[in-house]
Amino acid sequence: MSAERILYINNLYKSFDGKKVIEGLSLSLFSGENLVILGKSGTGKSVIMKCIVRLMEADKGEINVFGTDVANCTEKEMNRIRARIGYLFQEGAMYDSMTVLENLLFPARRNPRLRKLPESELIKLAEQHLESVDLADASGKLPSELSGGMKKRAGLARTLMLSPEMIIYDEPTTGLDPHTSEAIIKLILKVKKIYNTSSITITHDINCAEKTGDRLILLHDGKIIAEGTYGELKKNPAEQVQLFFN
Ligand SMILES: Nc1ncnc2c1ncn2[C@@H]1O[C@H](COP(=O)(O)OP(=O)(O)OP(=O)(O)O)[C@@H](O)[C@H]1O
Ligand SMILES: [Mg+2]
Repeated sequence: MSAERILYINNLYKSFDGKKVIEGLSLSLFSGENLVILGKSGTGKSVIMKCIVRLMEADKGEINVFGTDVANCTEKEMNRIRARIGYLFQEGAMYDSMTVLENLLFPARRNPRLRKLPESELIKLAEQHLESVDLADASGKLPSELSGGMKKRAGLARTLMLSPEMIIYDEPTTGLDPHTSEAIIKLILKVKKIYNTSSITITHDINCAEKTGDRLILLHDGKIIAEGTYGELKKNPAEQVQLFFN
C-alpha cells in the first residue's frame, strides 16, 4: 500500500498481575482507511486502544502515532497527539449533568483552536454536528433522556467537533438493535467520506466489520491470528476465524 502509515504498533506486550493480555501484537494503520479489530470479549481490544493514547502503559513494545514514539514522548507531546485523535467510547461517556449541546461545547471550549471562536460560532458548529448525526432535536436533552444509539451519536458529534485526524470507535454497535446499528454504520462511513479520517473500529459485530472495514484483523489470546479483507477472512478455514461468521 502506498498510503502513509499514520500509526504502528510493534511487538506489544501487556499483562495484569501476571495475566497475559497482549502478547507480541503488531499492526499498522494507513491514512484514510478503517482498520477493524475483531475479537471476542476480553481479548484485550480496549487495552490496545488505551495503550495507543497512553491511558495505560504497555509493558513492552513500540507504539508510534503520527510519527511520535508514544512511550518516550513528553506529556505535552502526548496531549498534542491526543488532540488529533477522536475516541468514541464504548459507553458513550457523556457528562450526565449537562445537556447534549453542553456536552459538545465543554471539550470545544478547551480546544486550543476552537476556544478562539466566539460562543455563538461554537454553538452554531455544535448544532451543525448534531444535525449531521441526526440529533438536531436532542440538543437540550440530558444524556439520561437518550437511548443507547442516540448517546453514541451524540458522542460522535462531540468527537467531530474537534476535527480529529484519526478516530477510534470502541464497539460502536454493541448493545444496539439492528436498525440502530445500521444507522451507526452509515455514520461511520459518512464521517470517513466527508472528513477523510483514518480510523480503528473495535468490534465483535461481523456485520459492522464487513460494512465499515477496509482491512480486518482478528485478535485471539492477545495475538493476531488472521488479517485481510472481509472476503479473505470469510474464506479462512481456521476455527477461531469461522466462529465470527456463524
Ligand atoms: N486496568 C485493568 N486492570 C486489570 N485487568 C485489566 C485492566 N484492564 C483490562 N484488564 C483485563 O484485560 C483483559 C482484556 O480487557 P479489555 O477490556 O481490553 O477486553 P476487550 O477485548 O475490550 O473486551 P470487550 O469486548 O468486552 O470490551 C480482561 O481480562 C480484563 O479483565
Ligand atoms: Mg472493550
